[in-house]
Amino acid sequence: MKDENMRDWKNVLASARSKMTKCRACPECNGLACRGETPGCGGKGSGESFVRNVSMLKQVKLNLDTIVGNEPVSCEADFFGVQTALPVYVAPIGGIKTNYGAEMSEAEYARALIEGCKDKTVVFTGDGVDFNMFQDPLLIQNEVGGQIVPTFKPWIYPEIAKRIEAVKKAGFSLVCSDIDAAGLTALRNSAAPVQFRNSEELKQLIEEIQMPLIVKGIMSVKGAMKALEAGAAGIVVSNHGGRVLDDCSSSIEVLPEIAEAVNGRMKIFADGGFRSGKDVFKALALGADGVLIGRPFSLAAIGDGSEGVKIYLNKLENELKETMQMCGCTKLSDIHRSCVRITF
Ligand SMILES: Cc1cc2nc3c(=O)[nH]c(=O)nc-3n(C[C@H](O)[C@H](O)[C@H](O)COP(=O)(O)O)c2cc1C
Repeated sequence: MKDENMRDWKNVLASARSKMTKCRACPECNGLACRGETPGCGGKGSGESFVRNVSMLKQVKLNLDTIVGNEPVSCEADFFGVQTALPVYVAPIGGIKTNYGAEMSEAEYARALIEGCKDKTVVFTGDGVDFNMFQDPLLIQNEVGGQIVPTFKPWIYPEIAKRIEAVKKAGFSLVCSDIDAAGLTALRNSAAPVQFRNSEELKQLIEEIQMPLIVKGIMSVKGAMKALEAGAAGIVVSNHGGRVLDDCSSSIEVLPEIAEAVNGRMKIFADGGFRSGKDVFKALALGADGVLIGRPFSLAAIGDGSEGVKIYLNKLENELKETMQMCGCTKLSDIHRSCVRITF
């Protein structure tokens, strides 16, 4: 990785530290210092689900292969017909004030991400009890351009219908839902509560909204098969960054078996603990079509707005390209299971 990338990123982190009260912006965002801090940006309970997301990724090792030509390396990706510079997308994060104690508002946060990613990649935007948290990014995208995937909580249907109407009005035709948020006590007790849905009910929801749905929060083969049967366009292998259940497996541990079972029948994304281009490479080698990253993008936006987001994206892109080069890959389709060794 280029030295200036690392220097710029350290400056962004230092700036973020001075603009919020609840996150320490650690040099390595690994869930150790913020164990149990929810609200806050940590993992639930013992914090182990978040910590494990990061630590198990380290147990996937890269296999060097440098007997290769000198062709340029490209990590361009296709995201449902949108060309992106890299297969990395911003994960939806809501509650930038509650969780980070940040100076910026939710709308300013969304703007920083959408502007920062505009020429490179896609932003999954957040949702909350306050409808504006869902709607503002749609209005900002309309003004700024760029690509977003509006992500709604698994509310009772009238709340979802309201959000789908706003999405259709804004001209979007792909949405995501973090179904695992059905387990969040605060949302279960809110005025318009979230709910669990079985496979049949999920299928009905997809038919009702009449647009492709990415289902976020799948952590088992069984769950992936149910999402597939319900007609999901894709899944995000995710334990919500360790925020919905203590002591979960990490995303990278369950990814290979889920990818094997899905066998190309829908898109698979993964999130949880991915921090660098090396980490992204590992997920692609183990069957993901792309990776969502959460907390570091929040720090980038809090620290230096859209510029911070661009700095982090450049760092990821350079790291991914360097890893590809050193592992004998010049394009994403060259990245295979044989490029890594699982040591867990
Ligand atoms: C403070 C915070 C707020 C979050 N809010 C949401 C949300 O509104 N919707 C959602 O789908 N996921 C939410 N997530 C989960 C992220 O989308 C993502 O799954 C997770 O952060 C990925 O792990 P990482 O942060 O280690 O990269 C949130 C995570 C954090 C840390």
